[in-house]
Amino acid sequence: MCGIVGYIGKKNTKEILLDGLKELEYRGYDSAGIAILSDGEFSSFKSVGKLVNLEEKTKDFVTDKFAVGIGHTRWATHGKPTELNAHPHVGHNSYVVHNGIIENYAELKKALLDEGVVFLSQTDTEVIVHQFEKNLQYADNAFEAFKKTISELKGAYAILLVTKNEDEKIFFAKNGSPMLVGINEENEKYFASSDTPLIGQCSEVNYFEDGDYGYVTKEAIVIYDKEGHTKKPHFTKLSTNKLSAQKDGYRFFMEKEIYEQSAVIADTLLGRLSENEVLFDELEDGFFDGINEIKLCACGTSYHSALAASYMFERYSQVKTSVEVASEFRYRSPIMSKDTLFIVISQSGETADTLETLKMAKKAGLKTLVICNVDNSSMVRIADTSILTRAGIEKGVASTKAFATQVTVFWMLSLHVARIRKSLDESEIEKQIKFLRNIPASVSVSDVMHERIKRLSKRYLHGHGFFFIGRDVFFPLALEGALKLKEISYLHAEGYPSGEMKHGPIALADPELFTIALLPQHMLYEKSKSNVEELSARDSTICAISPLEFDKADDFIQTKEHEHYMLEFFEMMVVVQLLSLEISIRLGNDVDMPRNLAKSVTVE
Ligand code: F6R
Repeated sequence: MCGIVGYIGKKNTKEILLDGLKELEYRGYDSAGIAILSDGEFSSFKSVGKLVNLEEKTKDFVTDKFAVGIGHTRWATHGKPTELNAHPHVGHNSYVVHNGIIENYAELKKALLDEGVVFLSQTDTEVIVHQFEKNLQYADNAFEAFKKTISELKGAYAILLVTKNEDEKIFFAKNGSPMLVGINEENEKYFASSDTPLIGQCSEVNYFEDGDYGYVTKEAIVIYDKEGHTKKPHFTKLSTNKLSAQKDGYRFFMEKEIYEQSAVIADTLLGRLSENEVLFDELEDGFFDGINEIKLCACGTSYHSALAASYMFERYSQVKTSVEVASEFRYRSPIMSKDTLFIVISQSGETADTLETLKMAKKAGLKTLVICNVDNSSMVRIADTSILTRAGIEKGVASTKAFATQVTVFWMLSLHVARIRKSLDESEIEKQIKFLRNIPASVSVSDVMHERIKRLSKRYLHGHGFFFIGRDVFFPLALEGALKLKEISYLHAEGYPSGEMKHGPIALADPELFTIALLPQHMLYEKSKSNVEELSARDSTICAISPLEFDKADDFIQTKEHEHYMLEFFEMMVVVQLLSLEISIRLGNDVDMPRNLAKSVTVE
């Protein structure tokens, strides 16, 4: 969840690096840094917080000669967001920036410490530069040392390294984290971890593949593949339109964000899972001491993720949990007892009603936690503690990836608390941690699935209403599916607990009432099926979403078989998101900016 840039050329290196980092700042902004090597000397700057702090720090520094430079904007995974932990990390003669996680860093660090190497930071990244300098003592040249270093690393990485020993080169390696190099007519070379920083600077780019490593000089780009064979760069034209480039070829940001969920959830999980434990560096030891109850408070989609959380907190952590709509909570006279942990959930961290409830809880002396996507937002500043969801900027007004990452955090948090309270067996926690690692795969969109939903969507453009129905956590998902459809299609939709339909709404059943039925295999399947059969018998048009064949449905969207109901939840989440998207597109609506809505609701 960080951003990387690099540049080799004669232009103003500092400005180029800072401009590039600005485009990547949304990827992480707890600290940033640059290192520039010119005339054999390094200049390096780091600062905590947003990029403006780094700009301020470097304002009197001028680069007007040939230089090589690297830069980084960080979202902390190993080590707190301090200046020492900010990249680039330094050895004696070299600097490195890195995205990803070096899984065997502890092992490498121990060996280096035993040899007397001094570490300045708590990051996994710092081992790269020390390992490189160690290898350099025995290697013929810097590239040989770099190559050996890469072969010793395990994990995911995009790495840029510069060294005084060969001061007109940038060394690079990519495995599992994105990185590309761009060139322009003047044959200058630019690196970045996504293409937006390169738009306007480069005409063509080469996207590195996993296992690629090598170096660039003024004249050349030298690439080796994972087998150690040289390969030529494969250049593709870079778009000149930032907005459409940002959409990466998708029709709408919402669509892009649905597809991005797999990658952003991987970021949400990053560094937070061990074999048998969910780790949140953000939570101090003893954070849950004395807590007997959890109260969750939010609006809209975030409220739905809170509802889903309440099932998991009670089931796994065995803590009494209640959920509140923020705009209601603020104006009643809620009883707030000090043994309650008050959790607010917000993508933006600015929603006025939610913010106000947070202030109320603080005033009443409750311990507070915010689950938020935007660092430094008002809620993050006010709450005692925050857990960031790491979804990246969400541009579509209809929330998708923010919801997905919130639910991911809640699943993790409920297991984290379960371990502390010993409310689940260690072996069960271990098993669920394996399932957590499968979320990115369960939300990845298959062409077949998307195509099927696209085709089906044409049958759902009219009618007098939609009911999304589900049980247990699939009820909040039903609410979320209905909200998505309402927001962007302007069709009337309701989310309902499947078992409640017979207590009134079933009176509406006729062929013009569309029921979107969530029928997971591992959560109350038989009971949910009976509820759908009741609707089918009354002629409602049924679209069933399930891994199991269901002959009472008019339409059937088959999901994969998963081992855990939460993985079914995540796949069905993607299905309802895509269904809303495709219906909205067919109706000719502006998916990303639906009428009457705003992304951040800062008025009550
Ligand atoms: C729906 C949606 C809204 C927000 C709500 C709260 O797609 O995005 O319902 O969830 O306005 O916003 P945050 O999460 O920023 O507090």
